[in-house]
Amino acid sequence: MDLNLKGKTALITGSTSGIGYTTAKILLKEGATVYINGRNRSSVENAVSQLKNEVANSKVFGIVADFFKLNQVESLLKKLSEIDILINNVGIYTSKSFFDTTIETWKDQFQVNLMSCVCLSKHYLKGMLERNWGRILFISSECAYLVPPDMISYSATKASMHAVSRGLAHITRGTQVTSNVIVPGSTLTKGAKNFLNEKAVTQNTSMDNIEKDFFNNTRTSSLLERFASTDEVANTITYLCSPLSSATNGSVIKVDGGSSGGIL
Ligand SMILES: NC(=O)c1ccc[n+]([C@@H]2O[C@H](COP(=O)([O-])OP(=O)(O)OC[C@H]3O[C@@H](n4cnc5c(N)ncnc54)[C@H](OP(=O)(O)O)[C@@H]3O)[C@@H](O)[C@H]2O)c1
Repeated sequence: MDLNLKGKTALITGSTSGIGYTTAKILLKEGATVYINGRNRSSVENAVSQLKNEVANSKVFGIVADFFKLNQVESLLKKLSEIDILINNVGIYTSKSFFDTTIETWKDQFQVNLMSCVCLSKHYLKGMLERNWGRILFISSECAYLVPPDMISYSATKASMHAVSRGLAHITRGTQVTSNVIVPGSTLTKGAKNFLNEKAVTQNTSMDNIEKDFFNNTRTSSLLERFASTDEVANTITYLCSPLSSATNGSVIKVDGGSSGGIL
């Protein structure tokens, strides 16, 4: 299927690895121009050259910006003033009890996970509305629904993204701009692989056993009972970026293997 993405320009925040990186690769294969982002020049340059190797003739560029630093966000907006597709993907988390989570940690997670979306959307949505085409995507998490007790601050940042996305969708009324939320479940990124590997080494068992144990005892609501691949998540994100998804707006699309439950 041709997703009609040729000629479209996308920015993916936090995309030198993981879900963002794989989304960049699929968008490039579809002929889109993609700007990837990370905090330091070397990781961004490495990711750009890796993507150029993986996708022939790809139009991929890197933008260094740390979403903790407002001046770097401002300079990103100066360097890249117009885009068609904004994928708010950058996200940080901690796993700590509610009582051990400091107010600074709460602020940090809201700064990176939520305020990055607010700053970029405030800028890019205007141009999208003027040109009457655009896509804004918010990469949330199953944690917005599950709210694990050791990840309350992270879960709160993700739940709040749903409100911003829905509000932006109201602003797009009657246009060809859309704003939607994607909800990934546990996904096999490099970080997840390291986590499984470290546990396997400490417990002198295989990564497969650690994965089984995670779904038997921790993520018990998962119907998939395994980590999703980054491709499985990125395929859905790419579809939502495309003109083919034009009737989906203000929505929440789950790629969580059924973990968040419910029928809505
Ligand atoms: N993985 C999962 O299981 C899972 C599940 C549900 C939801 N999600 C959500 O999906 C999104 C992507 O997750 P992921 O696991 O694929 O990410 P990841 O592998 O942890 O990727 C981290 C990326 O974010 C960049 N980054 C980190 N802090 C940054 C900052 N302050 N400013 C700019 N870039 C920054 C890193 O770049 P550099 O290191 O190069 O700076 C890297 O490219 C996140 O919003 C996450 O909450 C993930």
